Amino acid sequence: MKIATTTAIVGTFLASAAQAVPTSDESFPYTGPDVPIGDWVGNTVKGNGKGFPRLVEPPAVKPASANPSNNINVISLSYAGNGVNIHYQTPFGLGTSPSVKWGTTANSLTNTATGSSHSYDRTPPCSQVAVTQCSQFYHEVQIRDLKPDTTYYYKIPAANGTTASDVLSFKTARDAGNKKAFTVAVLNDMGYTNAGGTFKELNKAVDDGVAFAWHGGDISYADDWYSGILPCASDWPVCYNGSNSELPGGVTPDYETPLPDGEVPNQGGPRGGDMSVLYESNWDLWQQWINSISMKVPYMVLPGNHEAACAEFDGPDQVLASYLNDNKPNTTSPKSNKLTYYSCPPSQRNYTAYQHRFRMPGQESGGVTNFWYSFDYGLAHFIAFNGETDYPYSPEWPFARDLKGGESTPKENETFVTDSGPFGAVDGSIYTKESYEQYRWLEQDLAKVDRKKTPWVIAMSHRPMYSSQVSSYQKNMRDSFEALFLKHGVDAYLSGHIHWYERTFPLGSNGTIDKESIVNNNTYYTNPGKSITHIINGMAGNIESHSTLSTGQSPLNITCVLDQSHYGFSKLTIHNETVLTWSFVKGSDGSSGDDFTLIKKGSGSGNSTSTSTSTSVPTSSLGTATGTSTAGGVTTVTEVVNSYTTYCPGSTTFTQGSKTYTVTKATTLTITDCPCTLTHTTSLPSAPISSAVFSGNSTAGSSGNSPSNTESGASPTDITSGAGQPLASGPTTSPAGAASTTSSVPVAQAGRTAVAVHLSVLVAIVAFAVVL
Ligand SMILES: [Fe+2]
Repeated sequence: MKIATTTAIVGTFLASAAQAVPTSDESFPYTGPDVPIGDWVGNTVKGNGKGFPRLVEPPAVKPASANPSNNINVISLSYAGNGVNIHYQTPFGLGTSPSVKWGTTANSLTNTATGSSHSYDRTPPCSQVAVTQCSQFYHEVQIRDLKPDTTYYYKIPAANGTTASDVLSFKTARDAGNKKAFTVAVLNDMGYTNAGGTFKELNKAVDDGVAFAWHGGDISYADDWYSGILPCASDWPVCYNGSNSELPGGVTPDYETPLPDGEVPNQGGPRGGDMSVLYESNWDLWQQWINSISMKVPYMVLPGNHEAACAEFDGPDQVLASYLNDNKPNTTSPKSNKLTYYSCPPSQRNYTAYQHRFRMPGQESGGVTNFWYSFDYGLAHFIAFNGETDYPYSPEWPFARDLKGGESTPKENETFVTDSGPFGAVDGSIYTKESYEQYRWLEQDLAKVDRKKTPWVIAMSHRPMYSSQVSSYQKNMRDSFEALFLKHGVDAYLSGHIHWYERTFPLGSNGTIDKESIVNNNTYYTNPGKSITHIINGMAGNIESHSTLSTGQSPLNITCVLDQSHYGFSKLTIHNETVLTWSFVKGSDGSSGDDFTLIKKGSGSGNSTSTSTSTSVPTSSLGTATGTSTAGGVTTVTEVVNSYTTYCPGSTTFTQGSKTYTVTKATTLTITDCPCTLTHTTSLPSAPISSAVFSGNSTAGSSGNSPSNTESGASPTDITSGAGQPLASGPTTSPAGAASTTSSVPVAQAGRTAVAVHLSVLVAIVAFAVVL
């Protein structure tokens, strides 16, 4: 019998990571309630029946007995090098190393793999929560050296009160260079409220065979537990009136918008709270909800702002600060009583839950744990990186950025509640991108890509570089990563954070529209070194609802498609070396909200090559243009080619020359019955907006995501300026009106990487902030 044994490490898997993961800093004591609960009517862990409903989700393994003493509540697969990591969660320890029995057929699980467990001091502990609704021990079992593109079967044995799982299965990644087409489910910003349709369609997609799910940050919205105790404000509709679970009347039109069919209104209103009113329970329940996906396909994640800490900002009158800092529920406090890094319980700071509740292949790819990593699948190289910390002017700040004067550690009131990281080494100034391990890793990872094997390179982090909702963090993202991605020919950059669907035109640096790469509004060419297609996919659904343009605001001309009204996720399909398609799957009915094709020029055949998404006659090609005309902002190019390739997204019939082609399903055709005369039109640059596709209510008022606490220095999160602001001259490294001074100081932060920094102290004058 072959025994595959993973590296058994005493302690946590974090200890085996390539980079030591910072722990939560406890320089100042936590002075809030033992268990912060966002329900002042039923303010016990289990509720008293009078407050908000505490929702439940089935565990991954149905316990064999009615009152189990332990249970496997979550199972989540991920890729790990040439194998798979099986992550599972239980409320209590196993009393032994975690293990799985596995094999190549369901009835011959002849191999055993063992792994390691880790835990953290969560609030509340699972001893206070129903056994089947709580996770406090996290188990990682890796099975390595597996055959690519192969289905394996496994079973998690019973241990210390758990019930053994059924025989489950997973499929390994295809090896790099495998030319078979595949589809990936890409989703961002998914909580519970508003996400029911996305969940349903996502499950269908998994059953239809997507290779894996890729969730680009903002996972569960556990930190919105406190939404129910924030006073309502005109720009913060996710709220509760503090005395009962009735809707506070007449707040905003957004608040009164009913939830989609099938959604469960909880926490007292249509916006409600994501499942529960406790930070950790929100995580537990969301993960149990998503079991139907994460048990079937690898569930790959990266960090978003909502994973940083227990809260992001306070409401008017410092009600949350009063609760978390002083343990006084439902009371106001002076402005000086602000949320700090130490306002959250220690286990709810610095991405602690996120670090424990997933296991990404940072170690296998030279990255850092769940924060940045890469992997190959068939013809594509996928890069996940951290848009929240670990680059200059990151939206979540390291302590080094809080320092004043010659300090080596910040005072309590100099910190921010979302302060986090750095998770990698920082060698040099925190304001220089090259100082960061993440940047250097990205540089090396991109340089190593073998484009003959993986011609497609897709990168994702949580934060967009461009959007019609302009914000200063976007420039900071561009300053750190855009040139690198352009240099290495990243084909598409995916993100979320803004809760809508937005696809830009192919963009070069400074938002320059690469007109030559636009075949039509649904088809672009890649143009390595010149442009990248940016897609914001933040519409999975969550308590914070959609982002929308403000009244009178128009999308920027960089935006080709903008949907502000539908929830859903997207399918990315790699068809072959030259054709990628993307489809926005609406959660409401599974129909498509955007069909997009990305084509690589020049397949090296010696003939002109082109592709089209046309369902009738192909309309584009490469090769020498034989005619170009421009009228009314529409450029028409006519050319004659010897052969070309066309992608048909569905059944169609068309004639080329004397030959009629009929296809019955989505397929790629190479047409050689030429010479062929092809034309394509580009509706740019003079009137891109009129020709682009926009849907949804663009005059629905403010985003519904704005915290009302916008006083100076209140929060280092997003600083948003109005759309329409020139991209190149927008906010640079600090909010408008920020003052900057510099000094050099050493940083020695407990549990964090000690670095010497060149400190720029920013005094933020925040005019308008949006948290997504
Ligand atoms: Fe976000």
